[in-house]
Amino acid sequence: MQKLTILTIFGVFVAVAVCNFHFVDNLVELTPASKLKYLMIGQAAMGTCPNEELIKKANHDWEAYLNISTDLSWKNASTLWVTVRRMYRKSLGDFMNVCRSRDLFYQTFGQSLYYQCINIFSLMQYTTDWTTAALYARMWQHLDFMCDIGYEQLITPGVWNCVNNAPGDDLCTSAYQQQANWTNPATICPAVQNFMNCEKALFDGYCGQPIGYYACEDVRLGYGGFCENLRCLVQAANRPTTKSTP
Ligand SMILES: *[C@@H]1O[C@H](CO)[C@@H](O)[C@H](O)[C@H]1NC(C)=O
Ligand SMILES: *[C@@H]1O[C@H](CO)[C@@H](O)[C@H](O)[C@H]1NC(C)=O
Ligand SMILES: *[C@@H]1O[C@H](CO)[C@@H](O)[C@H](O)[C@H]1NC(C)=O
Repeated sequence: MQKLTILTIFGVFVAVAVCNFHFVDNLVELTPASKLKYLMIGQAAMGTCPNEELIKKANHDWEAYLNISTDLSWKNASTLWVTVRRMYRKSLGDFMNVCRSRDLFYQTFGQSLYYQCINIFSLMQYTTDWTTAALYARMWQHLDFMCDIGYEQLITPGVWNCVNNAPGDDLCTSAYQQQANWTNPATICPAVQNFMNCEKALFDGYCGQPIGYYACEDVRLGYGGFCENLRCLVQAANRPTTKSTP
């Protein structure tokens, strides 16, 4: 019974969660490694990964499918993520292929093991490096988002081209760095929400609504272990939130 409930909840989470594509945020890099455990969404209710071999094998097979060097392990997360991003941005066909590879990766685990293994807390069983665990988990969250709920939207040629050519988000990044003061927890959630609002405005401005909403959702789905009330609105401009969740 317990298991069924979890899977049902999980099914809803997936239905709600998985959306758009290359709205890559860099909050993992901008957040002190020791604080990532607060920021990142975990799946503690799902149970933990039974063993690292499962991840190693799935990662190896996935790289082989994409012709990425199989010398890279999941612990080379930052190199891997750069490589995959470069690959799927080359063309719509490459993006579709990366999404196929993501389906295969997911199927290697099956639904419950995927969520048990590919999250920051499970990965921390096998490393002491929070940033590596966060980057690997975040990479898959992005791919989940882009290759599932966001897929139809993203493979629309106009949208694809626009999102791929969207300008950088240096302003969003520097605002986050200024606002998030990790010795003052009350500043964190507003800083994350403002980052999301900033991404939304950026993509709405460049690609038109509702693309900003997808950019915002992609960020929202990765974070919020600590912030409970992050939100993205399709139409209206997001208002910065002042609520903090210590
Ligand atoms: C990987 O390389 C093989 C052999 O060169 C090629 O047939 C295949 O299409 C490549 N796959 C991808 C995803 O590029
Ligand atoms: C991959 O990570 C290992 C350590 O886990 C490191 O020795 C190796 O140089 C990395 N490879 C690349 C290409 O970054
Ligand atoms: C960060 O927060 C602490 C505690 O509230 C405060 O003492 C410090 O001045 C803040 N740092 C910055 C750069 O605002």
